[in-house]
Amino acid sequence: MGDFYRLIGNPVGHSKSPLIHAAFARQLGIDLTYDSVLAPLDGFAATVAALAAAGCKGANVTVPFKIAAFALCTRLSARARAAGAVNTLTFDAGAIAGDNTDGAGLVADITGNAGLAIAGQRVLVVGAGGAARGALLPLIEQGPATLTLVNRTAATAAAVAAQFDFPIDVRAFAELRGPFDIVINATSASLTGALPPLPACVFGAGTLALDMMYGAASTPFMAFAAEHGAATRDGLGMLVEQAAEAFYGWRGVRPATAAVLASLRAAA
Ligand code: ATR
Repeated sequence: MGDFYRLIGNPVGHSKSPLIHAAFARQLGIDLTYDSVLAPLDGFAATVAALAAAGCKGANVTVPFKIAAFALCTRLSARARAAGAVNTLTFDAGAIAGDNTDGAGLVADITGNAGLAIAGQRVLVVGAGGAARGALLPLIEQGPATLTLVNRTAATAAAVAAQFDFPIDVRAFAELRGPFDIVINATSASLTGALPPLPACVFGAGTLALDMMYGAASTPFMAFAAEHGAATRDGLGMLVEQAAEAFYGWRGVRPATAAVLASLRAAA
């Protein structure tokens, strides 16, 4: 039997990750299995320990366990440290290495799939929770001209920005002046059908507006951005790219993503 990997979350039922990793393995002729595991809300550490003891090679971690995963690791990558959260675990002889591939996935989706450079661009990140924190270091490494952070709770944005060695411009929603070249919705607002209180001026004809959420329908953020002239993108490409980055970390080979993303879009 080949190596086995898992996705740990609660809930995990609707995740597309098993499909994505199965497609990567097929494409590269690697014999592995990747399935979802529903961990009890108070049983993440026990679930991880049982998987590692059973010989599992690695796991992805999703809602709501990314911070618990961070706390459990015996080793952390720089980008996991910057994010304060872990979405990829690698088990090796009792050690647990933690990485965060979400931000790299976001960057790969924008620069690769959308074909847009981040270097030299004016970038706005909306939100200051785990998803936003995970994106900041990989975005900074691309060399944006400016990086602006806006959050409903201003103090959270200020505290997050202070952790990075880059002049992040922290603004209140009402203070935002645009347009920006790239606007990233890293809030969880779309989950509840809500729209962050963004002024329309952040969007222009040359703006790419990306919502980290994905689903069959356009989110309120994407609809609002499109109304004001922006090109829009959901988080499906980011999902496929963060999976490819995790796969690369585990196996040392990088799967091609375009066909996998296209088939997920066709099935949506
Ligand atoms: P995640 O891990 O998805 O980032 P999180 O850490 O709970 O989740 O963070 C949620 C983010 O979405 C926060 O930035 C939150 O803003 P606050 O810090 O002010 O709570 C933001 N958020 C959630 N609902 C929102 C809404 N309706 N409008 C604007 N921002 C919202």
